[in-house]
Amino acid sequence: MPTYEEADSLPGVLQRLRTSEPDVDVLVVDDASPDGTGELAEQVAATDPGVHVMHRSGKAGLGVAYRAGFAWGLERGYDVLVEMDADGSHLPEELGSLVEAARTADLVIGSRWVAGGSVVNWPWYRRLISRGGTLYARVALGLPVHDATAGFRAFRADTLRRIDVAGVASQGYCFQIDMTRRVHEAGLRVVEVPVTFVERELGTSKMSSSIVREALWRVTVWGLARLVPGHRRRARRIAPGHGETPAPGRGLGSSSDVGREPR
Ligand code: GDD
Ligand code: MN
Repeated sequence: MPTYEEADSLPGVLQRLRTSEPDVDVLVVDDASPDGTGELAEQVAATDPGVHVMHRSGKAGLGVAYRAGFAWGLERGYDVLVEMDADGSHLPEELGSLVEAARTADLVIGSRWVAGGSVVNWPWYRRLISRGGTLYARVALGLPVHDATAGFRAFRADTLRRIDVAGVASQGYCFQIDMTRRVHEAGLRVVEVPVTFVERELGTSKMSSSIVREALWRVTVWGLARLVPGHRRRARRIAPGHGETPAPGRGLGSSSDVGREPR
């Protein structure tokens, strides 16, 4: 759970999360929030052994925080690692359905834009950015998902090991598209489950024009790179990690490869 200036929202969200999913541990990754979010998280962690806090030196972006958080979780041997906003937009009560779906999927996306999913209290321009961003990512990158920028997701630990998380350069919310693309290119199984995204009631969004710009230029560069012959082979070669080599003419052994045309 990445945080930057979420002092008003975080305690309530942590409480709801620990109540609805007591077996799930939480790591708060705070970028030295000036409003004391990190200290508040420490106070909760002091009385709840299921809550952990990572303090980073300053605001470096959502993607950078998630990279550090995932490394922390992989080191400690968790089976499933979940991304979740700290402002209450992702309902702790819906976390169970993501984790459940991760039993049979490599990446579970909590999707606002599939049947049963919804967004509450978002202005038209946020809907437009979200839907437009996903549409662009679908077309430019060939992603078969309806919510490519969703920030409520569950990854199987093996998925993160396969896709070389440490090599992800995306700093902002574009990290979400980057991760979706990597999982898809590795031939892993992506599943979307519907979620209700409720716009925050406290604090402010950290979304900015520079975050949108980063996503635009990166998606465009990745899209253009796909047009270069041999791209798919290269994408697959970096996917396995740990020096593993994919068997020739075959995918990486995931169920989603079955019946799929070779790339
Ligand atoms: N550590 C850290 N560092 N956390 C951050 C940073 C950062 O630089 N920037 C944002 N966060 C945290 C926020 O504190 C919050 O917990 C979460 O990331 C999401 O940030 P918001 O600012 O609330 O995002 P949003 O509601 O505008 O955007 C939502 O929609 C985006 C587009 O669909 C989120 O669901 C995003 O994940 C999603 O990409
Ligand atoms: Mn938010």
